[in-house]
Amino acid sequence: MCDQKKVLEIIENCGTCETKLLEILLEVQNASELNYISADNAETIAKALDIPLSKVYEVISFYSMLSMEPRGKHIIEVCKSSACHVKGSKEVLKMLEEILGVTAWQPTEDNNFFIEEVNCFGACDIAPAIKIGSKVYGNLNKEKLIQIINSYRGV
Ligand code: FES
Repeated sequence: MCDQKKVLEIIENCGTCETKLLEILLEVQNASELNYISADNAETIAKALDIPLSKVYEVISFYSMLSMEPRGKHIIEVCKSSACHVKGSKEVLKMLEEILGVTAWQPTEDNNFFIEEVNCFGACDIAPAIKIGSKVYGNLNKEKLIQIINSYRGV
């Protein structure tokens, strides 16, 4: 959950126009340690923008990048689009699930990682690719994946 004070600060920076709703939701989610928007956060946003709470929920459920469920500290996005698919994105997903001991779309027990499949994020030249936060990693194999995951453990 994002601290209410932080939510109000984000709203103040973005503005209270309804057109800013998606931007606000993304920022609130990013500011939350476990990458989600809590019911309290949603209510604060609805009140500040003077819109029905149902509108906030509608937008959250429309965009797959938004979540009302706690996900994890580090979201691992596995590209499933054509270039990555051809170069073995399914194997990358399986290896990540094996390394972390979870299946995609569920947080690891320590809430440190959450794997999700996404569409192309423009790293096709280094397929198969994954993205963690703003960092992109490509030309992956199991050894490289273990190194990447280890670099995020305890961070
Ligand atoms: S197809 Fe995977 S990054 Fe473009």
